[in-house]
Amino acid sequence: MSERKKIAVLISGRGSNMASLISASMDPSYPAEIALVISNKPGAAGLERAGEFGIETATVDHTEFSGDRQAFERALDEKLKARGIEFVALAGFMRLLSSWFVTQWRDRVINIHPALLPSFKGLHTHERALEEGVKLHGATVHFVSAEMDDGPIIIQGAVPVLEDDTPDTLGERVLAVEHKIYPKALALVASGRAKVKDHRVAIAGEDTEQAGPVLIWP
Ligand code: GRF
Repeated sequence: MSERKKIAVLISGRGSNMASLISASMDPSYPAEIALVISNKPGAAGLERAGEFGIETATVDHTEFSGDRQAFERALDEKLKARGIEFVALAGFMRLLSSWFVTQWRDRVINIHPALLPSFKGLHTHERALEEGVKLHGATVHFVSAEMDDGPIIIQGAVPVLEDDTPDTLGERVLAVEHKIYPKALALVASGRAKVKDHRVAIAGEDTEQAGPVLIWP
């Protein structure tokens, strides 16, 4: 087996997507190893959860940098490099990353967003999907660019919107698909199958006759 890539997961909260990545990486044939979990929020529930899995954790508290985003990001960057991290997976990480950081880590940072991008960037995606009356909603894993919830799309998972959905019931259905697509996307990236070309992601070896691994639907 080729060497597993070293991944850091960046979180701010409960870390259920982080846990799905860690669980997938327990399989020795999975191409990525979660080497580090970093939170920008001290006491984030995900830190304890990562610790229970035996994963190294760290906190880089953005409030300790007196509003200096560059200094916060330099501290993150140093921690990642010191640990030999090769790819970064954002999982509910509630800080925007600057173009400086994104350039340092070009095509090596991925994010999960709870909507079918480019629809519903930003917050409260489930409420907004219900307000708009869309019939299909879902989640997207994408490479990170300096624009919020932007960047080449790796994989999307779709779910139906039901007549009696509330933001909570729809959110639960989307979260279940998030937990499926994030480990698949990380595997595609870590194995080198997903590559950015002309602002789009090409998947090596994808069967074009099928939806392939990059669209999960109901
Ligand atoms: C998820 O819905 C993710 O798509 C979004 O933030 C939420 C994080 O949830 N970016 P969790 O911390 O992974 O449970």
